Amino acid sequence: IKKIGVFTSGGDSPGMNAAIRAVVRTCAFLKINCVGIFRGYQGMIEGDFKPMDARSVNNIINKGGTILKSARCQEFRTAEGRRKAYEQLTAEGIDAFVVIGGDGSFTGAMIFNEEYGFPVMGIPGTIDNDIFGTSNTLGFDTACNTVVEIIDKIRDTASSHNRLFFVEVMGRDVGHIALNVGVGAGAEEILIPEEDLGLERLVESLKRSKKSGKSSSIVVVAEGDKIGKSVFELKEYVEEHLPIYDVRVSVLGHLQRGGAPSCYDRVLASRMGVKAVETLLEGKTNLMVGIQNNELTLTPISKAIKGHTKIDSELIRVSDIMTT
Ligand code: F6P
Repeated sequence: IKKIGVFTSGGDSPGMNAAIRAVVRTCAFLKINCVGIFRGYQGMIEGDFKPMDARSVNNIINKGGTILKSARCQEFRTAEGRRKAYEQLTAEGIDAFVVIGGDGSFTGAMIFNEEYGFPVMGIPGTIDNDIFGTSNTLGFDTACNTVVEIIDKIRDTASSHNRLFFVEVMGRDVGHIALNVGVGAGAEEILIPEEDLGLERLVESLKRSKKSGKSSSIVVVAEGDKIGKSVFELKEYVEEHLPIYDVRVSVLGHLQRGGAPSCYDRVLASRMGVKAVETLLEGKTNLMVGIQNNELTLTPISKAIKGHTKIDSELIRVSDIMTT
């Protein structure tokens, strides 16, 4: 392998830039050429490439988002799109790539590898933490820190006005962000898709906590939770069945996806970037670099995309005890 392409794909996440930097610098260290591919698979199809050297990634380790930009590309889902991408890569002399993204991005890489035998390596980058084969995806830790900071602020208002707040957080169809920030910010209830609390039990639990002396409450709701049709309907239901509370809703949205990566995400990105390049150079392909028990691991991409990381049942138990 003489020239490695690197790109980010799908939703951006804090730590992606640190991973790009690590891939580029490892290539420079090992005297391999490195090319940045802009706008994910879309840029690959269009040949939007730029040679990268160690200096082209100065001062990005601390930046959120991705300097290579990102996109969700429909064209790469077609055989024709992938053929165009292959032609662009070979014309540029790129003979392997590192994709930093989530399961959609990995699925594209796996199919591309199957069709063209092209060496591919994945680094999990998404705030959702929903990839099998790693306990942490890049951006998850930062997103949790961001959300905890915001909930701390919301709590000031909740307690000053004796209010109940429903705070909706991201995570697509999994509850990792919700569960972790719920425990970290001391939420009274945490609603996640992996557990169905039910509206009646939610109201009962809020009644109990009011009785026990709590004057305000924070309920963290994962966006994928199915307890109500929407967080606004939850508010209506609770207002109707528990009129003792003044209820507000806060949907945090994309502010939890941006911002400077935490130290944890920067270090993880650096480790994963080095490992991704080294593994490609060992002649391995179609793998994702992950972290488990603080050790870097390699998981076949086909496995990484199939299942989600399991929700932490021990943390659910902790949260149940903490919300007493
Ligand atoms: O996958 C990251 C994520 O932020 C999810 O948590 C969320 O459901 C989705 O992306 C939002 O996607 P978009 O930025 O395209 O609206």
